[in-house]
Amino acid sequence: MKSFYITTAIDYVNGSPHLGHAYEKVLTDVIARFRRLMGDNVYFLTGVDEHGQKVQQSAQARGIAPQQFADEVSAEFRALLPQLNISNDDFIRTTDERHKRVVRQLLQQLFDKGEIYLAEYKGFYSTRQEQFLQEKDRQADGSWPEIFGEVTEITESNYFFKLRQYQDWLVDFLTKHEDFIFPRYRQKQVLEFLKDPLNDLCISRPRERLEWGIPLPFDENYVTYVWFDALVNYYSAVADRGRWPADCHVIGKDILVPPHAVYWPIMLQALGLPLPKSILVHGWWTVNGVKMSKSTGNFIVPADYAGEFGVDALRYFLIREMNVGQDSDFTRAQFLVRYNSELANNLGNLVNRTLNMTTRFGAGMVPAAGPAGEAEQELQALWEKTRGEVIPLCEGFQFHTGLDKTFAFITATNAYIEKRAPWKLGKSAAPEDQALLRTSLATMAEALRLGVALLQAVMPATAEKINAVLGYTPGKVWSEELTWGTKLTGAKVAEALVLFPRPAPAQK
Ligand code: ME8
Ligand code: MG
Repeated sequence: MKSFYITTAIDYVNGSPHLGHAYEKVLTDVIARFRRLMGDNVYFLTGVDEHGQKVQQSAQARGIAPQQFADEVSAEFRALLPQLNISNDDFIRTTDERHKRVVRQLLQQLFDKGEIYLAEYKGFYSTRQEQFLQEKDRQADGSWPEIFGEVTEITESNYFFKLRQYQDWLVDFLTKHEDFIFPRYRQKQVLEFLKDPLNDLCISRPRERLEWGIPLPFDENYVTYVWFDALVNYYSAVADRGRWPADCHVIGKDILVPPHAVYWPIMLQALGLPLPKSILVHGWWTVNGVKMSKSTGNFIVPADYAGEFGVDALRYFLIREMNVGQDSDFTRAQFLVRYNSELANNLGNLVNRTLNMTTRFGAGMVPAAGPAGEAEQELQALWEKTRGEVIPLCEGFQFHTGLDKTFAFITATNAYIEKRAPWKLGKSAAPEDQALLRTSLATMAEALRLGVALLQAVMPATAEKINAVLGYTPGKVWSEELTWGTKLTGAKVAEALVLFPRPAPAQK
């Protein structure tokens, strides 16, 4: 069995989870479930990033200790996972003992190897981004870009990690591994960034300024810079499970350069550890074109949509609407369009017709199909084509197109039913009509089973419900599930299933 280790970014616990966080979890979950269906031995890690100034400040604002604050907000992030039906194998908190121990170990190793040195630093610092700024970060008019929040000038002694000496190595690595970052144009952006000389990375914060962090093992007057701490989670979670390196880190585009594309590969290289196999970079969910975020407050609460429409409707929308890598604007109107036309009318309709026709004309049992006529052959040919296209699309993270093709097959199955009109055949006693009726009932049920198999990674609960009413228990992997055949012959089907009820008319 091929091992596949996949991670999400770990979320800052300075505010409640929003739709952007939900999306990243769902996208990663779809990949994890897809790989399991392909037969891989998957390990799926997610978690929370609890240290650093942002969390310390949010706790201060509430008048409670950082640990208590982190406990509360982390619980919210953790609770989101079952609400979204996320199939993670592990959840890491950077306050976990297992994590802190590994961070300190790695820091000590780098220090012992002479990769870390103490130096005085004078310059500008952004609390919002927790990073030191350079003159080149200024805007043309001399001011600092909005994303840095409040910028202050400071002078202090700190520990630095020798990033600079790995610059040529990193450029060489990225040039040789064109598929390290998806989409590819993001990798070009990293190489663009690496055209300027790198500065060594400040990896400490004096404790008088920031208490809330992992103390440096070689100097207790400092805590670890939050990014150095956070990135290590991918390794610390599996250090004693033999899972490293990761096959795929799923992250948003705001944290590619420099943390994931520069700091992380260099940290690993300096430690003599293997690099992750790939980084998948998704875009942002926006509201009226503005990035949804905790600090802006313009966010959609994922549980609201999951509660109103069901978790699978939300999962479907997130994956169908967004082309992985690009941005997407979230609107209720667009959500309703997809919900009504694709889920309720197209898929819901196919399920109901199949159950209804089989109940009325097949005494609730899927009959054996007779010889395939032209309509059956056409539908089976479309199935072969769809299956052949969808798997490579999923392998290339083109899930939105994969869903589009799968739904085209569902549309074609509905059209097939219109064409055969079992409700007419059922009224005829002629043996050839009865034979065709049996063939059409068997064909629609089999097409539904197959279409649903392709939807399993995106809508696992819906797939389970539909399989249950078809009297079918699918296997765990796709290798035997995706072939047109007779698996449902003799299956007893339920009379009805309400899947995507009409939503109440919009309030606003
Ligand atoms: O960056 N649309 O945490 P975070 C899509 N702790 N994705 C979004 C989004 C949006 N509107 N807003 C945020 C951090 N995200 C660090 C990560 S990893 C070692 C440390 C994504 O809570 C964002 O791109 O700010 C990131 O991948 C994840 O949510 C966590 O963001
Ligand atoms: Mg962020």
